[in-house]
Amino acid sequence: MLEGYAPGYGRDAVSMMSARTAAERATFAQPLFGPGMWVVDLGCGPGSITLGLGAGSRVTGVDRDAGQVAMARDSARRAGRSTVDFVVASAYALPFDDGCVDVAFSHALFEHLAAPVDALAELRRVLKPGGRLALSTSDWSKARLRPKTANVDAALRGHYLLRRRAGGDPFAGRKIADHCAAAGFTEIVSRPRYREDLTYRDLARYVESRLDAAISDPDYGRDRDQLASAARSAWTWVRSGDGDFSQCWVELTATRV
Ligand SMILES: C[S@@+](CC[C@H](N)C(=O)[O-])C[C@H]1O[C@@H](n2cnc3c(N)ncnc32)[C@H](O)[C@@H]1O
Repeated sequence: MLEGYAPGYGRDAVSMMSARTAAERATFAQPLFGPGMWVVDLGCGPGSITLGLGAGSRVTGVDRDAGQVAMARDSARRAGRSTVDFVVASAYALPFDDGCVDVAFSHALFEHLAAPVDALAELRRVLKPGGRLALSTSDWSKARLRPKTANVDAALRGHYLLRRRAGGDPFAGRKIADHCAAAGFTEIVSRPRYREDLTYRDLARYVESRLDAAISDPDYGRDRDQLASAARSAWTWVRSGDGDFSQCWVELTATRV
């Protein structure tokens, strides 16, 4: 399976993720947590959300990147959270037995996966019967940008292309409920939530930096013309006036039968 990870682990991406908290990102999942439960946070990144999940529960953050796991372990040590641990593992091969996890949580992972139904089947395997799933996944097709000029549209098309070339799906949020059903989950409830993740100008800079990096990669080859044109649009977007951006996140809960 061809799967990269489009945001990468540069300082801008990691500091954006490190600023996220469970109080802000996992409110929809809080009713599922209870004392003595085992909660898994899949694609935990630097662990700032993981640390706030399920007080009184054992929490295990999982990420395929050893650097993210090292950062997360360090944060847990500094926060004195001895009931939180972190492991390096793939979403497709979790190092847990069948039917042992009470709640599986994941924020901002499924939009980066090339085989989301396979990852959901793996979560279903490790969940106990009656165990709960809580996912939050972005849907760029419903993101709100004002003004949404021709340059903004062209730059975003390049951004989506990079996400797809890394194996992800920028519109994953609109399919996640169907993917959960395909993986055998029931009682699937989903709702959109809008968040101002970045300012309009910071989003423009982020998109420009990823497009610039892509077109200066000598191995990039295919799609270079489209990406170069998108990078020029992003350059103009960065230098245009201010605006508004809010991202659409699809928050979903489901049950493992
Ligand atoms: C966008 S970050 C989200 C981090 C955190 N959950 C948050 O919302 O701030 C996605 C994380 O998923 C991890 N990841 C990507 N693909 C993965 C896979 N196949 N298995 C496990 N982790 C993966 C990445 O290394 C990255 O740390």
